[in-house]
Amino acid sequence: MKIIVTENYEELSDKAAEAMLAVVKADPSAVLGLATGTTPLGLYARMIRDRAEHGTSYARIRTANLDEYKGLPASHEQSYACFMRKNLFDGLDIAPQNTNIENGMAADEAAECARYDALLEALPRDIQLLGLGSNGHIAFNEPGTPFGSGTHVVTLAESTVRDNARLFRDIAEVPRKAFTMGIRQIMQARRVLILASGANKADAVRKMALGPVTEQVPASVLQLHPCCTLIVDRAAASQL
Ligand code: F6R
Repeated sequence: MKIIVTENYEELSDKAAEAMLAVVKADPSAVLGLATGTTPLGLYARMIRDRAEHGTSYARIRTANLDEYKGLPASHEQSYACFMRKNLFDGLDIAPQNTNIENGMAADEAAECARYDALLEALPRDIQLLGLGSNGHIAFNEPGTPFGSGTHVVTLAESTVRDNARLFRDIAEVPRKAFTMGIRQIMQARRVLILASGANKADAVRKMALGPVTEQVPASVLQLHPCCTLIVDRAAASQL
């Protein structure tokens, strides 16, 4: 795992944008695996700015997102589908049909997981962006998830519900279940770019990068990926 430590979140976002834009500019039909959450917001703002300033085209780019809350329609303002439109896609010239995410409203969970598995198989990702959960999760693969997992429905860990409550009016509104890409599929991406910012991630960063590779720390599997870059700010790197 290549580790880049930055002074602060702004520099982290600059470096992440360099890595992501290098992929987009090298191959205008690249497949991007994307994440939601607070951490990639600076990166997404830079991608939009780069498009405005340099005209980088996303007309042939395709994307696949990591996860979606179960029970939220794509029109719901807290859905990850909505998050992606608001924070990235609306600022690019990407075609909606080229963006992919699990359907949180799918009545048949097994069929939806099979659909997304087949889609990911047909769309090998050139780069997979990840944030890091304070409990070491990647996507919504919580501690204990088998490394061989494909797309599945998870019951979110209590710590994840608490972490995500800041984005809802009330913790009671945070969905308890989600569809998530599996660890096997994250590991299939050609490159992985994982970002972590802030002191509350320091423990998870240490376990991910320096601890044993264990299903109890899902992100530790990235030590086995042949092309994984971790970009951390000073606060998140404080235990390395
Ligand atoms: C988001 C996702 C999650 C987040 C992680 C960190 O699609 O899959 O694993 O990346 O929970 O979230 P933030 O960036 O909000 O700290």
